[in-house]
Amino acid sequence: MIIQKSSNPRISTFDPSNFSFGNTFIDHMIICEYENGKWGDLQLIPYGPIGFTPAMMGVNYGQACFEGMKAYKDNDGQVFLFRPEKNFERINKSAKRLAIPEISEEIFMNGLKALVDIDREWIPQGEGMSLYLRPLLFATEEALKARISEKYMFAIVATPAKSYYTAPVSVKISDHYSRAASGGVGAAKAAGNYAASFYPTQLAIEEGYDQIIWTDDCSHEYFEESGTMNVFVRINDTIYTPKTSDKILDGVTRDSFLQLAERRGIDVVIGDVKVTDVIEAQRNGTLKEVWGVGTAVVTSIFEALGYQGEHLTLPKLSPEESFAEQLKNDLVNIQTNKAEDTFGWRVLVEENVYGV
Ligand code: COI
Repeated sequence: MIIQKSSNPRISTFDPSNFSFGNTFIDHMIICEYENGKWGDLQLIPYGPIGFTPAMMGVNYGQACFEGMKAYKDNDGQVFLFRPEKNFERINKSAKRLAIPEISEEIFMNGLKALVDIDREWIPQGEGMSLYLRPLLFATEEALKARISEKYMFAIVATPAKSYYTAPVSVKISDHYSRAASGGVGAAKAAGNYAASFYPTQLAIEEGYDQIIWTDDCSHEYFEESGTMNVFVRINDTIYTPKTSDKILDGVTRDSFLQLAERRGIDVVIGDVKVTDVIEAQRNGTLKEVWGVGTAVVTSIFEALGYQGEHLTLPKLSPEESFAEQLKNDLVNIQTNKAEDTFGWRVLVEENVYGV
């Protein structure tokens, strides 16, 4: 690894009690370039701009994908990643779908651990705090022919994080727009999936909602995801969540919730979640909770659903009654080393062993 430490670190200006998610960046970043058919050396360098022209293929044709993951600091100051192998597998799945060359586990893991280690002081400690890591892959060749790029960059940037959405949110069930189509790139964490979601989300915001529950592109009869999250519905004491497919992201938080629900003995059904069944359950009082899960937000509990002009409110459950809250606590306690990790999910980031 080529290491160039920042000569002007900003850590002393970082106030962990006063920052917002996503626009404060740690002192360093990782980059690694692909050309002539191979990935080059990992580079750990000061965070900052790198030069590209507007002819860069990643910008013109959207050949770009990313990951979202977090590092946590426990009460003793030890630092952990959470199931990083899942993000490694998924970035390569996304890469494959977008015809981007896959990266090795060594590039991904060494880059991640070295970055987290050198900037471990940036990881805020305490309730809901973490360091959000954004590994990304994008096409860098300067060329305007619509074809697969011959040059790429792998990069990792990171921003301190606290809870992402705090208050309960109301969501609009889409009966027009879709996030993904059959045979498309919905299962990839493709940058363009997010771009395509912004306009419909803006329309929902103008109607007074916070985000959208995405439904299938064919009939709009089935739940797929919510905002940038996987979605869960609880009717009576059973949890329902859509099955992953080429339209639905295989979320690490989703998978962790499913394993934690099983451990708690909660009944889970993975399959079709029909909009009309959810509406009917709301009307007859059996709909208890609807929530989204994702790395950034962990859990976002919904207070209302909007559907075809109707505004349907959801019950307000206490933390003891709420499955969403219980599962979130189970998860966060494992992530932050407050609970035993019987699943083997935590990965310790050792100090000073990555050459930084
Ligand atoms: C994540 O939870 O990692 C996401 O994908 C949300 C991100 C777009 C902020």
